[in-house]
Amino acid sequence: MDYKKYIAEKIKVEGVGTDEIYELIALPPNTEMGDYALPCFKLAKILRKSPVMIAEELKNALAPDEIVSEISAVNGYLNFKINKNGFVRATLDKILSEKDRFGAGEEGKGKTICIDYSSINIAKPFHIGHLSTTVLGGALYRIFNYLGYKTVGINHLGDYGTQFGKLISAYKRWGDKETVEKGGIRALNELYVRFHQEAEDHPEYDDEARAYFKRIETGDEECLELFKWFKALTLKDVQKIYDMLDIHFDSYAGESFYSDKMQPIVDELIQKGLLTESRGAQVVDLEEYGMPPCIILKSDGSSLYATRDMAAAAYRKKEYDFDKCLYVVAYQQNLHFKQFFKVLELMGKEWSKDLVHVAYGMVSLEEGTMSTRKGNVVFLEDVIGKCIEKAYTIIDEKNPNLDDKMGVAQKVGVGAVIFGALYNNKIKDIVFSYDKVLNFDGETSVYVQYTCARANSVLQKGGVPTSFELPTLTAEEIELVKSLSVFPETVRAAAEKYEPSFIARYAVDVAQKFNKFYFDCKILAAEDERTKNFRLALTNATLQALKNAFALLGIGIPEKM
Ligand code: ARG
Repeated sequence: MDYKKYIAEKIKVEGVGTDEIYELIALPPNTEMGDYALPCFKLAKILRKSPVMIAEELKNALAPDEIVSEISAVNGYLNFKINKNGFVRATLDKILSEKDRFGAGEEGKGKTICIDYSSINIAKPFHIGHLSTTVLGGALYRIFNYLGYKTVGINHLGDYGTQFGKLISAYKRWGDKETVEKGGIRALNELYVRFHQEAEDHPEYDDEARAYFKRIETGDEECLELFKWFKALTLKDVQKIYDMLDIHFDSYAGESFYSDKMQPIVDELIQKGLLTESRGAQVVDLEEYGMPPCIILKSDGSSLYATRDMAAAAYRKKEYDFDKCLYVVAYQQNLHFKQFFKVLELMGKEWSKDLVHVAYGMVSLEEGTMSTRKGNVVFLEDVIGKCIEKAYTIIDEKNPNLDDKMGVAQKVGVGAVIFGALYNNKIKDIVFSYDKVLNFDGETSVYVQYTCARANSVLQKGGVPTSFELPTLTAEEIELVKSLSVFPETVRAAAEKYEPSFIARYAVDVAQKFNKFYFDCKILAAEDERTKNFRLALTNATLQALKNAFALLGIGIPEKM
């Protein structure tokens, strides 16, 4: 049961909707005051009365019932106490009966969400900068699915541009088949880096590269074959990482896919009188909207990133008829998205309002950042590998006799990388630290995983009860159940704000409350059978909720640790 909703529906304020009331209702820091509170300060502005008076009047208009046992007005807050027994019973019954559907829903039925994420560049390293888009997108994909939406995961490959001409030039000059075949992305990247170094003294290499790119475009067989081969090698290489992170796509239609789909966009722009010439290029002027012009065609007639993105958006609308199309891309590209969204709007595409740039912050390693051209990149594969290795060392130290230590280290290491990228509000820049993400006592995935192992072990010893009666409840139990209960609304908030971090925080909060309960209330040695049975059921429900939360984030939970 959603108590917040129940309370919001009880409160009637003229001119303020139930949804707004719902948004305002919060959990008071001190449970002595109540289980939920409506701060009346925002209402004071609307109603032109003091918060104290509003709280008082609302209190007088409301009567307690079997769910809300007490209502009080204190210092501008309207406080509600919930009938604890009913609440605990209802929450645990819900979790234990809905199991892995606890928190799920059907509200997205019939709606489609396209999610453009990861969107790697062919022949370039899959580096730590791609971590956020990959795991954020993957989590959003699962979250929307969980709420009944049809989700379409799209890897909008960066597989178009002169860099492929450069690569062909470099490969033909210095490369050999075997090395590249074996080395994959790393070998391709070395060629690319070398090209940039040597082209500094040989500007003619750049002309050659441009010519090769033209040949890819015009369908020259040899160039096209090489390009396809680079692409296949890259995808094969990154698949290893996608497998580890449990990431899937429904489409790999990248930039080159749209090379023959841009003309209709250009034609329409001309027809609608939106294209103007600027220094030989064809652009859409956006001065009126406080933005630099959006370049559609360069002076040599070639297309740009934005042109391809416009063709892609139109294609996705036609192909999937999306209700929303999300672009999980770093905030560095804010302007790009604002520009082409605006141009589509100016073209009269009413669906342009459904395009959303889900921007996120930068990830850097403690050691420093990277640049593809210079070659000093941090490969994501190496970061994950190192995390698994470190996890193994810690596990081996803590529990040398554990079965399948490597399997556990995989889940812990990979989980730490994912969780490290998902725990903070997505727009924040993060500095990735191995010690931080693998801290067993921190706000980390391994802390949550360890808590699950603890719960598992309790259940193994005490058994999973099939039914339970309520004992006299302790404060720790009630706090834990309260934390557990907010999962459904947390999932919805995460979807609405495109913020998987809400779910990560939920998991840490539940784990912390569980551990407090675990240390303060004896489970297996409880004072009587009824209490023991209840505590086992509570442990089971906690494990279920944490499993559901971690499944949405794409993190595995080892049975034992
Ligand atoms: N490949 C691009 C990059 O690495 C990201 C593409 C994002 N998606 C898009 N539709 N523009 O910067």
